[in-house]
Amino acid sequence: QRTAAEFVPDSRSLDRLRSAALGCQGCDLYRDATQTVFGDGPAPAKVMMLGEQPGDREDVAGEPFVGPAGRLLDRALEEAGVDRSQVYVTNAVKHFKFVRAERGKQRIHKKPSRGEIVACRPWLVAELEAVQPSVVVLLGATAASSLMGPSFRVTAHRGELLPAPEEFSGRPERVLATVHPSSVLRAPDRDEAFAALVKDLRAVPDVM
Ligand code: URA
Ligand code: SF4
Repeated sequence: QRTAAEFVPDSRSLDRLRSAALGCQGCDLYRDATQTVFGDGPAPAKVMMLGEQPGDREDVAGEPFVGPAGRLLDRALEEAGVDRSQVYVTNAVKHFKFVRAERGKQRIHKKPSRGEIVACRPWLVAELEAVQPSVVVLLGATAASSLMGPSFRVTAHRGELLPAPEEFSGRPERVLATVHPSSVLRAPDRDEAFAALVKDLRAVPDVM
């Protein structure tokens, strides 16, 4: 299968990685999206937040988590006592995947496939090497499957600080799985879902 590997430079400078990622054609998602949305934040950083893929707003802005899900995430981090200045934010897949609504030009988010998650993973591995986080917060099933493999179940492990896979040599040392902020926006009881997300994130300050 095609992957991003041939587009990833040897450099572990985030600026170099980000500019190389703009030209990635590691899978077909670059064709219809506006641009690559690379991670954002300090390097090194104690904490990496890993989402699924950029949404409509992120695709246009070129930055991760700047739309409604991002605003909710910011509020949750603040309530959980996580210092945002020490957080690097990125996505498992770096191009927006969507289908067009039948009428009009609304773009509707589509879940990335396992193949697309695997294709984009070399960028994530390079970011981990550049950012050297102590903990990676897995926001939802796509993020969890990228880092932990397809059999990992968020529902079975949410809120637990778990050891990271050995391939990462201790960077990160731990992972924490929780739900995706978009799922909170869709939940029947939003306040309850938000509180549960904050509760999971409260484990993060302990490892910062
Ligand atoms: N959802 C994500 O997973 N990532 C973003 O950057 C925005 C929304
Ligand atoms: Fe490359 Fe990832 Fe975009 Fe696919 S989604 S083209 S692998 S950056």
